[in-house]
Amino acid sequence: MNLAKFPRRRYTAGPTPIERMPRFSEALGGPHVYIKRDDLLGLTGGGNKTRKLEFLVADALAQGADTLITCGGIQSNHCRLTLAAAVKEGLKCWLVLSEPSPGAYRPDGNGNIFLYHLLGAERIKIVPDEVDWPTELDAAATEAVAAGHRPYVIPMGGSNAVGALGYVACATEIMGQCFDHGLSMDRIVVAGGSAGTLAGTLLGLEVLHLDVPVTAISVLHPHEQLLADIERISAETAAHLGVDVQVRPDAVTCYDAYIGPGYGQPTQEMIEAVKLLARTEGILLDPTYTGKAMAGLIDLARQGVIRPEENVLFLHTGGEPSLYAATHLFADASAGGRVW
Ligand SMILES: Cc1ncc(COP(=O)(O)O)c(C=O)c1O
Repeated sequence: MNLAKFPRRRYTAGPTPIERMPRFSEALGGPHVYIKRDDLLGLTGGGNKTRKLEFLVADALAQGADTLITCGGIQSNHCRLTLAAAVKEGLKCWLVLSEPSPGAYRPDGNGNIFLYHLLGAERIKIVPDEVDWPTELDAAATEAVAAGHRPYVIPMGGSNAVGALGYVACATEIMGQCFDHGLSMDRIVVAGGSAGTLAGTLLGLEVLHLDVPVTAISVLHPHEQLLADIERISAETAAHLGVDVQVRPDAVTCYDAYIGPGYGQPTQEMIEAVKLLARTEGILLDPTYTGKAMAGLIDLARQGVIRPEENVLFLHTGGEPSLYAATHLFADASAGGRVW
């Protein structure tokens, strides 16, 4: 495997740390939980999309593009980070955002919505939830060409063969860090949305012959669909990389029990997970992805599926800005914060 043959921009100075979480692990009564701080990646409030964008934006620049076009929900971390990369590269950025119900997008909204405006998105189009994304993105690209731009379209979540290279690279980073620190992981826990993060990570682990099982906590699709998406994107990424490797279906276990009522809708377990990590380690999760993924880790540990003696690596994929659009969920003063 030769990742160096692909054009890449660098948005983070070095590897993100792997940290022990002793107080969180103790509160759980085991396992030994470590955290890969991809929430500290570069760009504006970094997260997993930063790694994908290093390869996607480099590809866009190599193709002579001057406008990045992408899509997501109204609180999309992917859209924020694509816009941040565009700002950094001097490109324009058009965003197509789907709102869960009419009027849910308010231009004076908080979290990522605030940041789309602060970072100066050229264009924001609001569409209903049930649109066909490829059609919407094609239409935006056609419009951009008609306006004299050279667009580069990034699919939902940056989850294609180019974007997933970012997480193949992350797997090599994790392997090097574990080796350097004498750490042997028994499991990696990751949130799953559009599946590019999982596909890239799993492919990287497979290429490296690193036999660490992955636990995928879906926040969007039923487990069968998440697995199918992982298989499709990892196969496309392997072809793009030129490696004759397949992700084994038994390398990953996908859970959909922590989605709750739906994508982006809060669960009590997510709220507890966000609070527990904040109050034991001072690390923030987000309500849509990492909060639910951590709720899954906590529940699987309580059920004994994750055993107390295991070393578990939680991949923190970022998303902190959306927490500030959900402060009402965490408003109780049950553990301090009283004014005296
Ligand atoms: C914070 C965060 N974590 C996890 C994910 C899921 O990553 P993927 O879409 O690659 O499955 C996303 C996707 O937007 C995200 O913003």
